[in-house]
Amino acid sequence: KFLIGLTPRPAHRGYLVDPSYVDMKNRKVPSTPIGIQLCTGLIVTEVLKVLLERGGVKAAPHYQLYDAYRGILRKGYIPFGNGNPLQRLKYFFGRMLYAKMSETATQKEDAPLSSVMEQIIDQARWAPSGDNTQPWQFEIKSERKIIVHIPEIEQDNLYEFDHGRPTYLAVGMMLETLRMAAASHGLALRWALPKDVVWDGRAQEITVNLRKLKKTVSDDLLDYVPLRSVNRFSYQTKALPDRAKKLLSDEIDELFDIQWFESPVQRRRFSRLNAAATDIRLCLEKCFKVHKKIIDWTAGNSREGVPAGAVGMDKVSLLLMKQAMKSWSRMDFMNKYLGGTLLAQLQMDILPGHKCAGHFALLWKDGGKKDLAHIMQAGEKLQRFWLQATKQGLVMQPSMATICFSYYAEQGIDFSGGNLALANKATRLGNDFDALLGGRLSDVVFSGRIGYPGKVKTPERSIRKKLLALLSPSPSS
Ligand SMILES: Cc1cc2nc3c(=O)[nH]c(=O)nc-3n(C[C@H](O)[C@H](O)[C@H](O)COP(=O)(O)O)c2cc1C
Repeated sequence: KFLIGLTPRPAHRGYLVDPSYVDMKNRKVPSTPIGIQLCTGLIVTEVLKVLLERGGVKAAPHYQLYDAYRGILRKGYIPFGNGNPLQRLKYFFGRMLYAKMSETATQKEDAPLSSVMEQIIDQARWAPSGDNTQPWQFEIKSERKIIVHIPEIEQDNLYEFDHGRPTYLAVGMMLETLRMAAASHGLALRWALPKDVVWDGRAQEITVNLRKLKKTVSDDLLDYVPLRSVNRFSYQTKALPDRAKKLLSDEIDELFDIQWFESPVQRRRFSRLNAAATDIRLCLEKCFKVHKKIIDWTAGNSREGVPAGAVGMDKVSLLLMKQAMKSWSRMDFMNKYLGGTLLAQLQMDILPGHKCAGHFALLWKDGGKKDLAHIMQAGEKLQRFWLQATKQGLVMQPSMATICFSYYAEQGIDFSGGNLALANKATRLGNDFDALLGGRLSDVVFSGRIGYPGKVKTPERSIRKKLLALLSPSPSS
């Protein structure tokens, strides 16, 4: 009520970058010294007018709003003030809107975090993971030691190729976030896998040790952790400046070569590969089961999945998809007889694949088979790459399915349960991807598209499980 009464015609809503600062439950909203100074100037002017008995002073429900950022002055009058029926309607919708925004308020609704360890983990939980699965539990052993538990990789999830490569990349991204957060508390972090670690998809335990640093090290990328969010819509086609590309490759060049695909022809080639992967995955029942589990159809942000509104499709196509996703037989029918995957390919790959600054692929520098620790180190670099992109005002979308099905084809793995047509499509995809990468398919670790955000503002995003849900009790506690 206070907010809507204060700003009858808000001009600032469109440029609120980080909704996580709107925390209605705790009655906290962002404000800047600039706004406060402007208000002070205005009030003092009105007071002067009263004191000098000069100039008319218009009391509420007259209002005037000045937005210095947009250079907009709005003046008006609300008949009956806050009792006005229109104003009441605004409260109703305002409450819904702000409640939705407050969902992202980072854990502020909970009790204050008691230990430094909890504060560090609280920041690390904003690391991304494939389909927002957040495959980690934290066991705080002491003020200097955490055990991170990674569950067994789901055998039936086809996206978890190479014994869970996407999961372990995400784990590396989370560990890098943990490291940055620890450094801001003056702690250096080291993680280790057990010496006899076996990488076959079994559950893993990572030991994280912290050591006091002489002084606190601030990593400016840490501020971008909650702001970084995948964008699956169309971007601007404006090219990346060389400086941005250099800053991005500086984050990863210890481990990776980066290949850029920026010309219209290259973008088209890459988006066709992504579309081919979409065509394959939408025809697989195992993938359907994953989609059904992770796509969240309840409006708003999603704590444990991906909100339907963020998958990159327009409202009409989403309605169609929702109907088709009611059962596998429906989906299968649509795919076979109604050209079901074409619309998805067009909206999720072809159009956005063209509407971006470019695609990129990260390839191991020195080739060869890597172990689990290498994959997690790759994840660490990847998180820095994505955060640097966010810092540069860029958005990204990974194209992991393209790597996934190319991998199956390259390794001769039967992912399709003997479906020859799908196996052939994957072989073609692998060959085309290999050709695009100059024969380096076996080196590719990660790929995606990147660019400056387009007109579509993603209204919904994946948020994270609450901290308490991620803490596992220590057996000794
Ligand atoms: C290793 C990894 C692979 C991913 N692969 C894809 C992908 O192929 N397509 C996609 O749209 N998003 C992909 N994502 C993005 C995640 O779905 C997204 O980061 C997650 O749902 C959390 O959402 P947020 O980025 O908005 O915080 C991937 C993320 C990670 C960490």
